[in-house]
Amino acid sequence: MAKMWAGRTDGITDKAADDFNSSISFDSRMYRQDIEGSIAHARMLAKCGIISEQDCALISEGLAGILADVESGALPVDLSCEDIHMFVEQVLTERIGDAGKRLHTARSRNDQVALDLRLYLRASSDEIAAALRELIGVCADLASKYKDCIMPGYTHLQRAQPVTFGHHLTAYCMMLLRDLDRVRDARKRINISPIGSCALAGTTYETDRYFEASELGFPEISVNSIDGVSDRDFAIELCGVIAIIMMHLSRLSEELIMWSSFEFRFVTLPDSFTTGSSIMPQKKNPDMAELARGKTARTYGNLLTLLTMMKGLPLAYNKDMQEDKEPVFDSVDTVLACLNIFIGMLPGMKVHRDNMRRAAGEGFINATDLADYLVSKGLPFRDAYKLSGRAVARAVETGDTLETLPLSEYKALSGVFDEDLYRAVDLDACVARKKSTGAASPASVEEQLKWLSEELRKYDQGIH
Ligand code: ARG
Repeated sequence: MAKMWAGRTDGITDKAADDFNSSISFDSRMYRQDIEGSIAHARMLAKCGIISEQDCALISEGLAGILADVESGALPVDLSCEDIHMFVEQVLTERIGDAGKRLHTARSRNDQVALDLRLYLRASSDEIAAALRELIGVCADLASKYKDCIMPGYTHLQRAQPVTFGHHLTAYCMMLLRDLDRVRDARKRINISPIGSCALAGTTYETDRYFEASELGFPEISVNSIDGVSDRDFAIELCGVIAIIMMHLSRLSEELIMWSSFEFRFVTLPDSFTTGSSIMPQKKNPDMAELARGKTARTYGNLLTLLTMMKGLPLAYNKDMQEDKEPVFDSVDTVLACLNIFIGMLPGMKVHRDNMRRAAGEGFINATDLADYLVSKGLPFRDAYKLSGRAVARAVETGDTLETLPLSEYKALSGVFDEDLYRAVDLDACVARKKSTGAASPASVEEQLKWLSEELRKYDQGIH
């Protein structure tokens, strides 16, 4: 069949070219946005006297019928159409005749596709924000529950200083909160209407771009028509934000994988979010966390695909830009799937306080506290640091910890040591004393969570 755009050519194309050119298999998911955009366009055309009110009514009803039929399954998307825009217009024209052919006045597929993508990604960013918000709540609840659960804090994956599991989880809350802020920020630049830019030069018709934008809930329009159809920054930015979210989820995944290993035994993931092995009966694998970590890679790839696809394009629209959709849709799907997995999985996680505590008791992670003790006795920190190190070395020799090394041993190293050193190296006391702003003590963590819940309250109430 000849194409809708047959004109200069007869519109008869090679089957291979059609298949190569077609985007409907992946842009059909924007059917709703395409239809909503077209209804707004028809209203604008009628309001400006470019089409009649009658035609506008026919078009709007026709499009509403198409939406209902696609949604109910009564109208399957015809994959032989070039793209979703052509499909909707073709069905509309079949259904209502000439009025349907008037819809594309003062519009091009170039501004139409930019509009559809912005509408789609605006909704996606809202979904991502809602899932992030929920996950922050889940992490904050856990953090509060385990704010006194002592675990070793690590640097270089070596036991460093005692912290609490709640303190550690609060760190993730902060990352996710910044992610939420980034999503909202990206949304601002998604939420700009390109429609009315037409092919690239605008139009001779007396259109009202502001009216059409406000029909679709856009607070702003693109100020320059060439930019309106050339810009894909908004999709790239969202992909960038998603890549950062995934990086955070991937770090958490990595920790869950380690913590649930037999070597750590800090947590047990819920059975319903783990898998067994087909050969090793004892296995309980953290597949969900591994997949989230693995899927992070594809979101990085998607970001790089978009950046690379755009970098050499002369203004304005180029067909290369049809390649924008699969990567950005994949990133959106991936991050939503991963966020939802974490929302489901984390509340059912068992936390083994005893094992965390035991791990914190080994490895001399209170050596800094012993040095601080010596500073309180008047030693300069550098000297205190050395002396504490010698106490560690002696404890390694005797097979002790700093808590069990006898006072006589301490005294042999320096007369500064006294009975009260044992209070200084007690793990609970070590953590409780970390009460600087943002620090590990349960009281500090409580403050952090209070700050967080205030931020979330502002977010929930739409106060920015
Ligand atoms: N399917 C196309 C895309 O996704 C729609 C825009 C086509 N415009 C054009 N002038 N060929 O980019």
